[in-house]
Amino acid sequence: MTEKVRVAILISGGGSNMVKLVESMSADHPAKPVLVLSNDPAAAGLDRARALGVPVASVDHRPFGKDRAMFETALLAPLLAAQPDVVCLAGFMRVLTPGFVARFAGRMLNIHPSLLPKYPGLHTHQRALDAGDAEAGCTVHEVTADLDAGPILGQARVPVLPGDTADTLSARVLGMEHRLYPAVLRRFAEGDRTPVLLPAA
Ligand code: GRF
Repeated sequence: MTEKVRVAILISGGGSNMVKLVESMSADHPAKPVLVLSNDPAAAGLDRARALGVPVASVDHRPFGKDRAMFETALLAPLLAAQPDVVCLAGFMRVLTPGFVARFAGRMLNIHPSLLPKYPGLHTHQRALDAGDAEAGCTVHEVTADLDAGPILGQARVPVLPGDTADTLSARVLGMEHRLYPAVLRRFAEGDRTPVLLPAA
């Protein structure tokens, strides 16, 4: 019997994407969750992971101030101890240094709430509205040293509707994130990097 692909998930907040990833890793799935790790000990997602029976850990980034290298050294301890084959960033809001990213080259994924390469960074929904875009969406990509710029592994689109606010659009996009990320993770864990393109909901 082949060993399951070991997946660690990094979160900063509520962890709704993390929950969808964990729930998707059912018995017939090629991967299994081995750790949920947060940079915020009070992140609501940690309780949700515990309730799903996944080991959790947290390393508070605040005591490290601007010293990202020291924070990442502390973050690596529980992460490497879990021996992940794949690392999924799911609403993890700390920008990782190139050195950290290089440790997981080709096996670290991130979900971003825009149709990359459009709108890397923050406030993606407001920027799509300000630009008068007809559609928005989300992207799962491989993490590289360039923020939100790694090879695309999946995308899903949603229409921008009349009267949309950043909140209403964000909710519609989040719904697609919850479908896209599990679909990409399954394919990635099977060794297939062909991008997943989900039809509009
Ligand atoms: C998601 O929209 C994700 O794309 C972005 O942060 C949000 C996190 O949501 N990076 P959750 O913590 O997974 O609910």
